[in-house]
Amino acid sequence: MQRIEVSLGTRSYPILIGPGAMQADEELDRAIPAKDVLVITNTTVGPLYAAKLVQALAPRRCLEVVLPDGEVHKTFANISRVLDVLVANRFARDACVIALGGGVVGDMAGFAAACYQRGIAFVQVPTTLLAQVDSSVGGKTGVNHPGGKNLIGAFHQPAAVFADTDTLATLPDRELRAGLAEVIKYGLIIDRPFFDWLEGHAAALLARDTAALTHAIKRSCEIKAGIVARDEREQGERALLNLGHTFGHAIESATNYSTWLHGEAVGAGMMLAADMSQRLGWVSAADVERVERVLKLFGLRTDVKTLPAATIAENMKIDKKVAAGRVRLVLLKAIGKSLITGDYEDAALRETLRARCG
Ligand code: NAD
Ligand code: GLY
Repeated sequence: MQRIEVSLGTRSYPILIGPGAMQADEELDRAIPAKDVLVITNTTVGPLYAAKLVQALAPRRCLEVVLPDGEVHKTFANISRVLDVLVANRFARDACVIALGGGVVGDMAGFAAACYQRGIAFVQVPTTLLAQVDSSVGGKTGVNHPGGKNLIGAFHQPAAVFADTDTLATLPDRELRAGLAEVIKYGLIIDRPFFDWLEGHAAALLARDTAALTHAIKRSCEIKAGIVARDEREQGERALLNLGHTFGHAIESATNYSTWLHGEAVGAGMMLAADMSQRLGWVSAADVERVERVLKLFGLRTDVKTLPAATIAENMKIDKKVAAGRVRLVLLKAIGKSLITGDYEDAALRETLRARCG
């Protein structure tokens, strides 16, 4: 089992990574002193893994809420449903909420825990690759609003993360590839040797080789843990984790969050960011070709030809990172070196969208 620490003073916590992590008794006991736990899961993941987790949590009193599956259900109404169960069963401040599922379940369980009695403990048991390398770490929780994705939320750090790599065996291929886009992101923003390693291990990762996946998850979590420890509330460096996301959110909202998976949109978004960085003279054509080659190696899309450039440009303006009316973008200075800036020529953005979108 691999162990990483997210260093946040009194709110520091471990990330356990490896096969069987959700049954690591000693670590569970250390992270969950509570006698009452509420497991939040969904209709897909619950039948696969809830019994295993509940067994590992014995002899605690363990209740379950099984939410419907899907991003459309990441709503305030479902938070109310979870809070109602906590109230109805008289859960006290020393109880613990456990998220068993992907990022949707994790964001909702964390938000419910942040709200209940002004904040109770919660633990993440992420079961998608995306959740294991990204959403379960760092304390961003919340739900969508008809006015926008993740508009309502709170920072609330988990007490521990148990990334059980055994759960990835049942993950659909497409979800695996979407998670790998977020893994590639870490190499691009800050770690060129990791990007090199990913290029050399694409086949092993796509074949779900446990050792390769464990290394990819560990390195991703190390990078994220370091960034979160230095900038928990996203005042600066943490925004680098949004490489590809401003473009990606524009793609997702143009298709009503129904066609592209989040990670797929981020993959294409990273391609657009690399393309634009070259037009600004910041990275070489060879680097951009390499980014394209690696994304394709992982089965990810590198163009947005199905959507008009004007729609993407318009949707980018509603990004959360707009400051003083200017869309701030995460761009590349090299493979493994990124920056967030509003200081770029608009012509470069226009040319990128014209070249890569429909
Ligand atoms: P998801 O939670 O919708 O999971 C994807 C699909 O895989 C779902 O159908 C789910 O039921 C299924 N699934 C999960 N685990 C499985 C398993 N082991 N076997 C079989 N099927 C399984 O999507 P996601 O990609 O995990 O997360 C996306 C969400 O995460 C979005 O809502 C996004 O906003 C959020 N997010 C949050 C953060 C953060 O920092 N909090 C970061 C990135 C993304
Ligand atoms: N997924 C971006 C962040 O956690 O900041």
